[in-house]
Amino acid sequence: MKIAVIQGPNLNMLGVREQHIYGNITLEQIHNQLESAAKQNGVEIEFFQSNFEGEIVDRIQECLGTVDAIMINPAAYSHTSIAIRDALAAVNMPVVEVHISNIYKREEFRQKSITAGSSTGLITGFGGFGYHLGLISIIQMLNELKA
Ligand code: DQA
Repeated sequence: MKIAVIQGPNLNMLGVREQHIYGNITLEQIHNQLESAAKQNGVEIEFFQSNFEGEIVDRIQECLGTVDAIMINPAAYSHTSIAIRDALAAVNMPVVEVHISNIYKREEFRQKSITAGSSTGLITGFGGFGYHLGLISIIQMLNELKA
């Protein structure tokens, strides 16, 4: 079982940016935690972060035939990117969208996720732990699909 974890713009700044919203965990720490949880479950993860919309679209397209599912935090592009939504729809595999903060508790412009329309499910507001929830959800979904 192989999963792509795709992180959008400014998530490389976790641990530094707006700590009152995103906490002090770094992206590297999130990925290390995910990596060890994945190993325990016999899952392989490929990590990717970009601040560029087109690179994220390219990365999603590469997922076709190479991974079984995608966990993505499109960050600010969640609220703007029809291109990322379309790419997720095109690859047609289980997708979990994760947000560290609860986007529904924040500014109005964050309360709509365009990209989530192409996701199987959405996890929002559980901090860095949301990625762990995402991993468990994906393993469950893939096992159900196999059964
Ligand atoms: C975010 C929420 C977005 O609104 C914001 O632009 C981000 C991070 C989150 O994980 O809470 O960069 O996706």
